[in-house]
Amino acid sequence: MHIYKWDDSLRTQHVNVDQDNHEIVRKAQLLSNLITQQAEDKKIKEAAKSLENFVYDHFEKEEMMQMYSHFGNYENHKRSHARFLKGLNRLIHEILSSPHDIELIPKLDRLITETYFNHIKEFDTEAARFIMQRDYYHN
Ligand SMILES: [Fe+2]
Repeated sequence: MHIYKWDDSLRTQHVNVDQDNHEIVRKAQLLSNLITQQAEDKKIKEAAKSLENFVYDHFEKEEMMQMYSHFGNYENHKRSHARFLKGLNRLIHEILSSPHDIELIPKLDRLITETYFNHIKEFDTEAARFIMQRDYYHN
């Protein structure tokens, strides 16, 4: 069983962003566990699609929020999302075509605990800080 650690270093302090990021980690953890347990195809595929859809929606929300706030690093942030999505799409595609392939587990684990956690620490924290300060001064 793989445990993705969710700790304070992954908090941006922006409630909605943190809730979504936490949910992404929870969904990825569930998917990783289902493959480890060699659960039914249907369950693994549902979990894979649910993770992918959630990430899409989350990135869209974040990008809208940044655009409305005139966040200076919006383009780079968006590019980091696109890079992550490319890796995620490829992996989800592989999981959908062979749901019981245990070699996909470390790939998923790396994508979340390295690529996505780095995105949170490098990009989400910066964006959240900017947006919260801006909201503060505009209220
Ligand atoms: Fe982001």
